[in-house]
Amino acid sequence: MSQPDLHNIMHNKRLSVAPMIDWTTTDYRFFARLFNPHTYLYTEMISTSAILHGKTDRLLRFNSSEHPLVLQLGGADLNEMTQCAIIAQERGFDEVNINVGCPSDRVQHNKIGACLMAEPDTVANLVRHMQAEIDIPVTVKQRIGIDEQDSYQFMQEFVAASAEAGCQRFIVHARIAWLKGLSPKENREIPPLRYEDVYRLKQEMPELKIEINGGIETIDQIKTHLQQVDGVMIGRAAYHNPYILAEAMQLWGEQCPSREQILDSLYPYLEQQVARGEALTSLTRHFLGLFQGLPGARKWRQALSGKPYLSLDEIKAAGDAALQQIEQASQADIAKE
Ligand SMILES: Cc1cc2nc3c(=O)[nH]c(=O)nc-3n(C[C@H](O)[C@H](O)[C@H](O)COP(=O)(O)O)c2cc1C
Repeated sequence: MSQPDLHNIMHNKRLSVAPMIDWTTTDYRFFARLFNPHTYLYTEMISTSAILHGKTDRLLRFNSSEHPLVLQLGGADLNEMTQCAIIAQERGFDEVNINVGCPSDRVQHNKIGACLMAEPDTVANLVRHMQAEIDIPVTVKQRIGIDEQDSYQFMQEFVAASAEAGCQRFIVHARIAWLKGLSPKENREIPPLRYEDVYRLKQEMPELKIEINGGIETIDQIKTHLQQVDGVMIGRAAYHNPYILAEAMQLWGEQCPSREQILDSLYPYLEQQVARGEALTSLTRHFLGLFQGLPGARKWRQALSGKPYLSLDEIKAAGDAALQQIEQASQADIAKE
C-alpha cells in the first residue's frame, strides 16, 4: 500500500471517538488508543447516580494510555453534576462532557440527554456551576434540534446560552432527535444529516470550538469536515472499523501502525486482564473489527465470538491466521500483476 503524502493538518483540530454505551469501555479505549495516540477518547455516558451511588471505582477505571480522555456525564441535577465534575477532575480525566444528545426513553424519563435541548438555561446553569468548581473544560455534546424545534435558530440560541456560561467546545451530532416514536438506533439513522447547520454555527460563532459528528466514515470525509470546523467525532465507524484511527495518523503527518503491531501491543494487555481475573470472552467483542474489509476478517470474528471460553493462545493463533491470510492474498495480487 502506498503511503499518502504526510502533512500535519491538525493544528488546533481534533479527532474524537464518540461516547457509546456498552461499546467505549476501558477495554475498547485501550484498544482504540493503540491505533492513534492523538485522538480524544470518550467514556460511555455514565449517569451521576451511578457515579455517586454505584460501583464508582469500576465505572471510572481507565488505563493511563487512554489520555486524552473525556468523561461523559448523564444528568441534570446541579449538585450531582457538580459533584461528579469534581470527581472527574480528581480522578484525572482531561475533560467533562454533558450528554444533551441521547434520545432514549430511559434518559427522557430522567429528564437528561437530548430533551435538555429544550432547556437551554438548565444546561447553561450546569455548565456555569460545574466549570466554576473545576479547571478541566466542561463541554456539551448535543443534537441540532429536537422534534419540531428543528430550526438553525433554535440550535444557535441553545449554544449561545451555554457559551455565555463558559462552555467553549460543542460537539454537534448533525441530526435532530425525535423524542417520540423513534428508537435510539433509528434516531442515529433516520433524521437526515444537516452538516451545513454545523458549518454555519462555526461561521457565526468562530470563537467557539465546534466539532461535527454523525455518519462520518472515511478519511476523505474527515478531511472535508475539518476544512469547516474544529473537530470531527466518529462513533460507529471507529468501533466497527478501528483501523480508520490508524489511517487517520496521516492527518498528523505520521505513519500508521500495522495490524501486527497493534496485536503485539494488545496481547500483554490481555495477559494483564487474565491476571486480574477478567474473562477474555467478555473483552474480545471490542476487537472484532480489527481486520474489517480484509480477507482474514470473517475467520478472526468467528474465532473471537460466541465461545464459552477463550485463551490468549487461541486469540494469538487467530491473529496469526488472519495476518497470514492477508499476506497470502497480497502475494496472490502481486503474482497477478
Ligand atoms: C451503541 C451506541 C451507544 C451510544 N451511546 C452514546 C452515549 O453514551 N452518549 C452519547 O452522547 N452518544 C451515544 N451514542 C451516539 C454516538 O456518540 C454518536 O453521536 C452517534 O453514533 C453518531 O455518530 P456516528 O454516525 O459516527 O456513529 C451512541 C451510539 C451507539 C452506536
